Amino acid sequence: MTERLMSLKTEVMEELKKAASVHELNAVKARYLGKKSPLQEVLALMKEADPEEKKELGKAINEFKGFVERELEERLKAITEQEIQKKLESERLDVTLPGKTISLGRLHPLTQIIQEIEDICIGMGYEIAEGPEIETDHYNFELMNLPKGHPAREMQDSFYIDVVNLLRTHTSPVQARVMQKAGGKPIRIISPGKVYRRDNDDATHSHQFMQIEGLVVDKDITMTDLKGTLALLMRKMFGDELEIRFRPSFFPFTEPSVEVDVTCFKCGGKGCPLCKGTGWLEVLGAGMVHPNVLRMSGYDPEENQGFAFGLGIERIAMMRYGIDDIRYFYLNDPRFLKQF
Ligand code: PHE
Repeated sequence: MTERLMSLKTEVMEELKKAASVHELNAVKARYLGKKSPLQEVLALMKEADPEEKKELGKAINEFKGFVERELEERLKAITEQEIQKKLESERLDVTLPGKTISLGRLHPLTQIIQEIEDICIGMGYEIAEGPEIETDHYNFELMNLPKGHPAREMQDSFYIDVVNLLRTHTSPVQARVMQKAGGKPIRIISPGKVYRRDNDDATHSHQFMQIEGLVVDKDITMTDLKGTLALLMRKMFGDELEIRFRPSFFPFTEPSVEVDVTCFKCGGKGCPLCKGTGWLEVLGAGMVHPNVLRMSGYDPEENQGFAFGLGIERIAMMRYGIDDIRYFYLNDPRFLKQF
């Protein structure tokens, strides 16, 4: 019997040595201490033994159990230690490795120009207004003093969606929307956004581009206010030395209407390729709000006057950064965009 126990001991030792994981160790434990353990044979023999032998055997069996448990414990410690080491090894971090460079996004140059103009205008007490890109014929033309059959409707060849709706051809319809909402109160807003015209895309034309509309309505507003406001805006954008010049022009929604030029900021007015030798750059259209426009949107032109301006954002960005093709703005080529 004691021999059997001795051989079982060596067996257990062998198996424990082979066990390479906690899982395998548990299997060894079950095999030698569980219900189907070879110990059961020994226990069965005990029944026939006399009391003296029984005592001896009991001691030997307990000793065996204690042995297996101790050995298991030890192996378990060793294996757990090994497993931790293995894990540490595989998860080793090299803190001296260079970090991954994160490429940060940035604002589109047109967005930057819009935000700059917004900041300047907010500083002058303006609010930002928004209008829909899908407009009705009524707002886009009718309320802007361009009745049906007006030749200017042909001038601004448009994308109609149906007989009523079209993609707005300018941001001016926001004027009417703001006036109707303001209900006779003074107005001072700018409204940036996309506009659409049926143009063939080339270096200077795009079927979709961006404008900023400006509208001021109040009592005693004059051309001088318009000129002073635009001069301030342009000087903040292009430099303090800049002069501003009005040339007579025509828009159905303003009377009188002007085309606004600023001193070429590249040559300071001496004449250069950017200003085609004239010393001036044309930057926007503007004028005093036409009495019909005021009247149609609920303002009495005898009581209130206003000025409005419309500025092409791409044009401003192209002048400022010396970009010679408008299409660069829409290609989303990172080589272009990351320069701003
Ligand atoms: N809406 C005009 C255009 O798109 C610009 C403009 C706005 C002119 C306001 C005068 C006053 O060309």
